[in-house]
Amino acid sequence: MTILKTLERLVVVSNRGPVVIKDTAAGTSASRSVSGLVSAVEPIIENTGGTWIAWCGRKSPKPGESGTWPVPRNNPRYVVREVTLSPQEYRDYYLGFANGCLWPLAHSFVDRCVIDFAQWETYQEVNRRFAALTAREWREGDVVWIHDFHLALVPEMLRRARPQARIAFFWHIPFPSYDIFSILPWARQILRGLLNCDSLAFHSAVYVDNFLHCASRLLGVKTPNDNRLIHWEGREISVRALPIGIDADRFRALAADPRVQQRAAAIRRAVGTRFLVLGVDRLDYTKGILERLQAIEIFLEKFPECRHHFTFLQVAVPSRTEWKDYRELRRAVEETVGRINGRFGEQWRVPVRYQFRSLNPEYLVAHYLAANVALVTPLRDGLNLVAKEFVASRIDNAGVLVLSPFAGAAEQLTEAVKANPYHPHHMAEQLRFALAMTPEEQSRRMKLLRQNVEEYDLSHWWQSVLDSLAETRPRRVQPLSWSRSAPSLG
Ligand code: UDP
Ligand code: G6P
Repeated sequence: MTILKTLERLVVVSNRGPVVIKDTAAGTSASRSVSGLVSAVEPIIENTGGTWIAWCGRKSPKPGESGTWPVPRNNPRYVVREVTLSPQEYRDYYLGFANGCLWPLAHSFVDRCVIDFAQWETYQEVNRRFAALTAREWREGDVVWIHDFHLALVPEMLRRARPQARIAFFWHIPFPSYDIFSILPWARQILRGLLNCDSLAFHSAVYVDNFLHCASRLLGVKTPNDNRLIHWEGREISVRALPIGIDADRFRALAADPRVQQRAAAIRRAVGTRFLVLGVDRLDYTKGILERLQAIEIFLEKFPECRHHFTFLQVAVPSRTEWKDYRELRRAVEETVGRINGRFGEQWRVPVRYQFRSLNPEYLVAHYLAANVALVTPLRDGLNLVAKEFVASRIDNAGVLVLSPFAGAAEQLTEAVKANPYHPHHMAEQLRFALAMTPEEQSRRMKLLRQNVEEYDLSHWWQSVLDSLAETRPRRVQPLSWSRSAPSLG
């Protein structure tokens, strides 16, 4: 992947950083964090250099900053500035307001959304800390790139402290419709926070429309008809759909690596059936894992002739394990796997295999290569990088992607087989259709999908972010017009 160094210095700001740091009796250990955000941002900052301000998973009774970490340690390309959270902040800001309120709301799970004033106060407090650190880190010419729903107030707080800063914001999850977003008592504050950046981007045109509709109804922002430059409080903001691309060259190279191909062959041998169907997700209720398993059960009931030839493998990456909804989901998923295997398993063979862990990139690509079908069927998902990675890895132009229309990636990956995750019978039928697809039809679809993923890759995405930043006028330093309720850095 070629990324041109087109800026002075990049300062990335996100809740989750590229590493998870743990303090144990034996010392401090660091592991890779697994998510679409990290997969997308890390290759960019590795190329450009710069600073990444983030929480690295540590709780501390005295929250604040706790040092800088050069990454990678032996040959540093950028620096992580770690923000720590107190146990109360972890509970109220991270588990509470971010994951218990904004996350379900944005994914349209209204009845899972908890609205709690104390959590909102802590959310503001933690955003203030991230903004203050970013303001201290900022130098003339820097591009500040803020990520995701955890830090929606940071652009406004930073703008107050550094009016001339160039700020881009990427919202990685769905942006819900007005009907849903307006349930949030602090919807206006979130919108105002976001409107203080110069470039604001989402994964899909639907999310852009939802955001603009909310901004128009709740703040009276005038929405443009033609291009997406909006004017608000004397400033210009570019609001665009810029779906994340993947480093397609890297996936192609991994898929061509003989060691990865040998692993793929070993997986096929170990599975031992004619068909291998694969699911790879963080264990999150938005991913539709339970609904997918129900569809697998219906598939096995409905098509008994397939039972002996079929294995479904679900890789479930541990996520938010301290949150009870996620623990309950894990229990329900594991019970369902047990029930299906109890019903349809014979002697030493079971139709469903399940792993509660994350795979490293080589192993992941080996699994992508080994599968006949990837079942990517979230109930709602900002984009879903796994779908694009599966496609980029299929250098053999074989395999079928079955994709939910409720994943942001469905707007681009139009040759995938669509399956409605709310309708398990439909999913079972579409799985049957995918397994019966001729090699010629698989190849026709996969070539078109690969073309798309290769053209709109990660460097294209990064260039689009820079272009959208460039199309807004340089910041007027004076006069500034701040909304009365603009939060301060304290
Ligand atoms: N991933 C990984 N190992 C795994 C499973 C997933 O490294 O075992 C990575 C995967 O390559 C992808 C990211 O995790 O880049 C998941 O991104 P996605 O957009 O699909 O979902 P998210 O977890 O961000 O909701
Ligand atoms: C999604 C969000 C990210 C988040 C990731 C993992 O991809 O868009 O912002 O980091 O899930 O969730 P976690 O709660 O572990 O950070």
